Amino acid sequence: MELAEQVTIVQVVAEATHAVRREVLRGHAPDLGVSGPADDDPAAIHLAASVDGEVVGVVSGSPVEGPLNGGPGSWQLSSMAVREPWRAHGIGAALLTRLVDEVTEQGGRLIWARARDSALGFYERHGFRTIGDGFDHARLPHHYVVRAVGEGLDGITIRLIAARPFGP
Ligand SMILES: CC(C)(COP(=O)(O)OP(=O)(O)OC[C@H]1O[C@@H](n2cnc3c(N)ncnc32)[C@H](O)[C@@H]1OP(=O)(O)O)[C@@H](O)C(=O)NCCC(=O)NCCS
Repeated sequence: MELAEQVTIVQVVAEATHAVRREVLRGHAPDLGVSGPADDDPAAIHLAASVDGEVVGVVSGSPVEGPLNGGPGSWQLSSMAVREPWRAHGIGAALLTRLVDEVTEQGGRLIWARARDSALGFYERHGFRTIGDGFDHARLPHHYVVRAVGEGLDGITIRLIAARPFGP
């Protein structure tokens, strides 16, 4: 059986994602926290991928216009992480697909993220476009990525409107 078939993806509270965030996203910088602004947003969606009851991957999304001109209906994807032993089996893709479905159901039209440069290939393979110049975030090189979801963007050309990287 494919590993991805044994994976269950469920909506969880933000705190349930913190251990995987800490392990995967803060190994290089343990002094940086793992909770983000989305954690306090009641509209946020936090997803956990589990195998036999163990959380092996997480992702979050929250309605944030961010640095782009997408307006209302823009959502930020954040804290995408799959524990190393479980990577390259489609768990990241399954989390992303489920988040796109949930955001679409909420009427979202655009998802953007601050993507680590090392993960740009992953996002681009899933329909995201890299936009703007690179910048440092959490001590690593990043770019913004964006993709339309749901009803899309009515032909608007998405561009950066913030003069510098947005948010904390
Ligand atoms: C980025 C990340 C979330 C992807 O998670 P993942 O579960 O490995 O993702 P997938 O398995 O869906 O896809 C990963 C790659 O494996 C490949 N893959 C998917 N299923 C596969 C399989 N059954 N066998 C072999 N390879 C497979 C995909 O083609 C993809 O290739 P790519 O990296 O060239 O795009 C994960 O690598 C990670 O947590 N990285 C560290 C943290 C990070 O960078 N997070 C993003 C912050 S912006």
